[in-house]
This record gives sequence, C-alpha cells and structure tokens, in this order.
Amino acid sequence: MHLPPPLTIFKLATTLTLLLTLQPIPIHTLPLCKTSCGTIPINYPFALEDGCGAPQFRNMFNCTFNELFFQTPSGPYKVQSIDYNKKTMVLYDPSMSTCSILQPHHEFIMTDIQSAIIPPSQDTVFVLLNCSIDSPVLNHYKYLCFNFEGHTCDELYGGCNAFRVFHLMTNSSPPCCFTNYNTMKFMSMNILDCTHYTSVFNSDKLKGVGPLDWVYGIKLSFSVPDIGCESCKQSGGTCGFDTDTEGLLCLCSGFNNSTRECGAAGFEGMISEGLNNAPWTRHLLVLLLVVSLHTVMWLL
Ligand SMILES: *[C@@H]1O[C@H](CO)[C@@H](O)[C@H](O)[C@H]1NC(C)=O
Ligand SMILES: *[C@@H]1O[C@H](CO)[C@@H](O)[C@H](O)[C@H]1NC(C)=O
Ligand SMILES: *[C@@H]1O[C@H](CO)[C@@H](O)[C@H](O)[C@H]1NC(C)=O
Ligand SMILES: *[C@@H]1O[C@H](CO)[C@@H](O)[C@H](O)[C@H]1NC(C)=O
Repeated sequence: MHLPPPLTIFKLATTLTLLLTLQPIPIHTLPLCKTSCGTIPINYPFALEDGCGAPQFRNMFNCTFNELFFQTPSGPYKVQSIDYNKKTMVLYDPSMSTCSILQPHHEFIMTDIQSAIIPPSQDTVFVLLNCSIDSPVLNHYKYLCFNFEGHTCDELYGGCNAFRVFHLMTNSSPPCCFTNYNTMKFMSMNILDCTHYTSVFNSDKLKGVGPLDWVYGIKLSFSVPDIGCESCKQSGGTCGFDTDTEGLLCLCSGFNNSTRECGAAGFEGMISEGLNNAPWTRHLLVLLLVVSLHTVMWLL
C-alpha cells in the first residue's frame, strides 16, 4: 500500500482549511417582504407580496419595472410618492386631463374598501368640466359644488390651453363644478353629464394661484390599522398576515412566524437561525477537520 508522505497530507489539510474558511457564509439575506419599489419605500401597512403588510391593503399594489402602481377598478395608477408621516400617497393618472393636456373621457373609480381606508384627501379637489346645463350638479345636486378658493370656470377655460376648446366651441363658458371625491363616487361621469374632469391636490394652498401652477393628481389619505405593529418591528420582525385566515402575524424569519413579536414565541426561531447562519458552526467544522487530519498524520 502506498501512502502519501505526511507533508502532502499537511498541505492538503491547509488547502481544505483555507477553502472552507474562504467560502461565503450562507446567510438568509432574502427579506420576507420587499421594502421598496424603485425609489418608493414600501412600509406597513402597504406591501407588494400577499401575506405582507396589512390585510386591508391586500392586492392593491404592483411593482412593474421599478414603478409602483395602485390598482383600482378603473385601472392602475402610478404612485408618485408616499408620505408615511402625513399618511398620504400621491397618484398620477396619465390619462387625466390637466391644464396642459386634454384627454378623452376617463373615470376614477375605487373599490368600497379603498374608498373607506384610503380615500382621496380633503385637500384634493375634483373639477368637472364642460358640463351640460342638465347636469345634476347644476340642478338638484348644486350643493355638491363648492367655492374653490375663489377660482372660476372662466379662469380654467381661459387660462389653460387644454380647456380653451370648450370655450371656443360654444362661444360661451360651459358650466363646471369644483367638488370632492364623493360626488365622483356616487355619480358616474355619465350621470354627472360633464365630458371631462381634472383633479388638483394641496388645494388649500392655491388661493390666488392660477390653474397653470396647480398641482394635478390625486392625493389619497390612508389610515394605518393599529395592531401593535411597532412591537413586532422593534423585535426585528415585519408585520404581515396569514393569507388564508387574514390573522395577523409578525414575520420573524424564514423559519418561524409569531403572532406578536419575534422571540416572544420562544427561542426556537433564534436558535434555528443561529445554527444555520452563525460563523461558529463553520469554524467548529474546520476545527474538527483539522484535528482529524492531524490525527491521521500522527498515526502515519
Ligand atoms: C401591474 O401594473 C401594470 C401597470 O400598467 C399593469 O399593466 C399590470 O397588469 C399589473 N399587474 C398585475 C399583476 O396586476
Ligand atoms: C363639451 O360638451 C358638449 C356636450 O355638452 C359636447 O358636445 C362637446 O363635444 C364637448 N366638448 C369637448 C371638447 O369634448
Ligand atoms: C411566515 O409567513 C410568511 C408570510 O406569510 C410565509 O411566507 C412563511 O412561509 C412563513 N413561515 C413559516 C415558518 O410559517
Ligand atoms: C414557531 O415557534 C413556536 C414556539 O416557539 C411554535 O409553537 C410554532 O409551532 C412555531 N411555528 C412554526 C411555523 O414553526
């Protein structure tokens, strides 16, 4: 029997030790829930995956090519920003008419749940344009139109390139109406009998500001269900829910979930994570290998 000389075995041992030590440590870095879409942070109560965030906001978001979309019955709307402190989200509807572009008739429709938990903010004004004189908002539902910081229809028809066409065709100003989302919610554009709408947010700051400088878009204002998500977050978890029961969960790691906070359910989670990730297990392995190789060498 030909045995390799001890020096070769020693070299082999050293090489193996080096190889094992240099190997990357397989830490489970994949987060359970995505925390951003493009530049927009995704925090509780919102989420991109089912089972993350609050169940009330299930299936409302989608991240396509790093752009965040808010899904509604009238289509996906691009999310421009989310302010988690003020609890607001700004949407832009690319097919909406604004001061600079007139686009075909389009509706903004939300689900009942959306209207309840993430409705358009108080400072988002909807402007119904080119209404017929038979429109309900000019007759029986006149009270739904309000004075918007002293602005008038003529200001819009005269000041906006996009809306000048309404003025030109009739040689008079067709009626318009400044209203809020509820009007849109309870009456479709067909019932309202207005051909176009636009929406403006931060309306409380637009006194004396011309329509060219208004901020067009829709600001939604959301409420965050208070279910003790803070303590889950502080324990290192992410708030989520069971996709079957919608029961709330604190997502702790790939190994275990808890209903309250990570660690509160016991030490299992931490230990299983430790065993799989901690460098000391690897070092122990290396040590064992070196010791056994040395034993072999010693025996030779
Ligand atoms: C996500 O949003 C985009 C936005 O245009 C849409 O085309 C797509 O169908 C949506 N995907 C899902 C799964 O809802
Ligand atoms: C304005 O409304 C009238 C009907 O009330 C319609 O005939 C006309 O086409 C509308 N104007 C535009 C530019 O859509
Ligand atoms: C924890 O919850 C998440 C989201 O529901 C799920 O993907 C994961 O498999 C769960 N882990 C365990 C161990 O149940
Ligand atoms: C998570 O840990 C708790 C106790 O620490 C255990 O009762 C529960 O079954 C575990 N859940 C999963 C999905 O492993």
